[in-house]
Amino acid sequence: MAQLLRLDASPRRSRSHTRTLAGEFVARWSASRPDDTVIRRDLGHEPPPHVTEEWIAAAFTTPGERTPRMREALAYSDQVVDELFAADVLVLAVPMYNFGVPAMLKAYIDQIVRVGRTFAFDPEAAAPYTPLVSGKRAFVIVGTGDAGYEMGGPLASMNHVEPYLRTALGFLGIDDVEFVYTGNDEFGGERLQRSLERARNRVAELTTERKAVDVAG
Ligand SMILES: Cc1cc2nc3c(=O)[nH]c(=O)nc-3n(C[C@H](O)[C@H](O)[C@H](O)COP(=O)(O)O)c2cc1C
Repeated sequence: MAQLLRLDASPRRSRSHTRTLAGEFVARWSASRPDDTVIRRDLGHEPPPHVTEEWIAAAFTTPGERTPRMREALAYSDQVVDELFAADVLVLAVPMYNFGVPAMLKAYIDQIVRVGRTFAFDPEAAAPYTPLVSGKRAFVIVGTGDAGYEMGGPLASMNHVEPYLRTALGFLGIDDVEFVYTGNDEFGGERLQRSLERARNRVAELTTERKAVDVAG
């Protein structure tokens, strides 16, 4: 039995292609693994708080020495870090906004990258940073208005979603990350439909492939 954590970063509802595809991913996953549980965090509608001066001071204070206010400043972060550790599989639905991730997802990443919890830091060590998260697989569904942002594509150099997420998740120890792209939202019509169809087929492949089955046990 595995736990799947779904993160939606689009503020759109039924018009959101990434939400629709993430919904299909979860539905297919759950249909073949009914015992698995799904946790959902809607970053698009409930944006995470931004990091504050108090948050930073609290994060860099050893847990036993934190004041009640510091603990309060870290409450959201502690909750989403616990949720991350409890998950085996992550499904991220990510619109491309101005070539990067939406601010809501960036705020979430700032909350889960936590010294002493999701990574360790030892300034004396030859390798000062150690990832503390392991054994997870992530699927990222990226929605774009144009098309061709995937690695090797004509707009790949403008894509700051995939390199950023690979770096940030990899820093925590989540290296097994699969990207699915759906594009052409700005063009609509046939072009959009073809793109959605390709993404839908990829979602179908990923939810049935051997490796995905292995994660779920
Ligand atoms: C604020 C904003 C910024 C956007 N920036 C880009 C961009 O840099 N490149 C692009 O191809 N599309 C861009 N788009 C289009 C979205 O990526 C596209 O509509 C995508 O389908 C959004 O995901 P969703 O359908 O899940 O809401 C932008 C849309 C918005 C609203």
